[in-house]
Amino acid sequence: MQTIIEPFRIKMTEALPITRRSDREKNLAAAGHNVFLLDADAVTIDLLTDSGTGAMSDRQWAAMLEGDESYAGSRSWRRFEKTVREITNFRHIFPTHQGRAAERILAATRLRTGDIVPNNGHFDTTRANIEYVGARAINLPSPESQDLYSETRFKGNMDVAALERLLAREGRRRIPFCMITVTNNTGGGQPVSLDNMRRVKRVLDKHGVPLIIDACRFAENAFFIKEHEAGYSETSLLDIAREMFSLADGATMSAKKDGLANIGGFLACNDDSWAVDFRNLLILTEGFPTYGGLAGRDLEAIAVGLMEALEADYQRYRHATVEYVAAALVARGAPIVRPAGGHAIFLDAAAFCPHLTASDFPGVGLVNALFVEGGVRAVELGSVMFGTRAPDGAEIAAPHELVRLAFPRRVYTQSHFDYVIEVIDQVFRARASIPAYRIVEQAPFLRHFTARFMPL
Ligand code: F0G
Repeated sequence: MQTIIEPFRIKMTEALPITRRSDREKNLAAAGHNVFLLDADAVTIDLLTDSGTGAMSDRQWAAMLEGDESYAGSRSWRRFEKTVREITNFRHIFPTHQGRAAERILAATRLRTGDIVPNNGHFDTTRANIEYVGARAINLPSPESQDLYSETRFKGNMDVAALERLLAREGRRRIPFCMITVTNNTGGGQPVSLDNMRRVKRVLDKHGVPLIIDACRFAENAFFIKEHEAGYSETSLLDIAREMFSLADGATMSAKKDGLANIGGFLACNDDSWAVDFRNLLILTEGFPTYGGLAGRDLEAIAVGLMEALEADYQRYRHATVEYVAAALVARGAPIVRPAGGHAIFLDAAAFCPHLTASDFPGVGLVNALFVEGGVRAVELGSVMFGTRAPDGAEIAAPHELVRLAFPRRVYTQSHFDYVIEVIDQVFRARASIPAYRIVEQAPFLRHFTARFMPL
């Protein structure tokens, strides 16, 4: 059959708010024209993030009832540990309440002022945790990723030559570890190939620098490898994932993505002395090492979810959904980053709104237009989120003005996405009317969450 169906049926529903344009306009104005400040009840299709927003399966809910809430040594912890080890084979595994908690423990225990952490693309919390301890987060994306529209595969790869130059210049003393993010969220959800990971590892080994995987979307990355990297079409996603983790010395993970859970994460490593430091800080700030900030039932849900994320039929359906929306938008001429990412579609707001400059925040205009048109919530990844300010306060634009439509896992059906396509198409046709925005109120850091805007 040609039609790739959702490999599940629905046995519980959640009502969607169906809203009127006049209400949406009123709600957006009350939220300072920032969709982060909207009540979720005002949103019809919420594509703000794919993090913690997935639907759990009946198997996960059933496992949750078996959650063992013992403080120490619970059965649920053993099950969680066994599953994570089965996939990653790391010697030491620590549960955390979400991904950034793992990042914080890694950064706080391994980094000192002036250290450097290279990555193909740091996520904003990863960067913030590294910078918080006085170290520098450096992005080394592949040159191919600079062309938003090229159909090249594995645009999430790290620039190995740039990594070699950085290592030669700074050496192991300044670089306590290197990270690789699969898939590269900030780079458009683009995957990393096993070949690239192997080459990165070889370079790092020469200098004795460990490799840490930011593994949030490891299963989606494994599916890209199966589909597009030579030699893997017959390999199971579990075996591909194992091969990815075999190249690393540790991992940070947000189980809110490919753990198919609403909360949770972990930190893992092989080094015994690192593990001692991780354990000590974990106890101080997250919890005892057999629950680490999670309930026993959460550990159960994640253990089941990690394995469900590696089911080929699930990944085939998920990638087909993203590609379905991407193809429809390309056919309508809407500018999107190609190829489509694993968890999201990224609209190029600068090309969408050629009448606006970066200082007009075209991403904000586009996000707000999508909300007013159809109650669809997306997120700006442009100069509001990634722009910086010169010492005199002048805005320095981000390299790209993107808008991300993230796909929650197993939540929306094809008709929901047909609706999203129609909303984007309507906004695209009327794009000349998208206004410029000015910031009227902002926080000194991570301003995108709370800033208030005014349309001109
Ligand atoms: N790393 C990556 C690549 C991420 O995308 C995220 C979260 C994290 C780390 C942090 O994990 O949220 O569990 O603390 N990304 C979400 C998003 C928030 O919308 O892309 P967390």
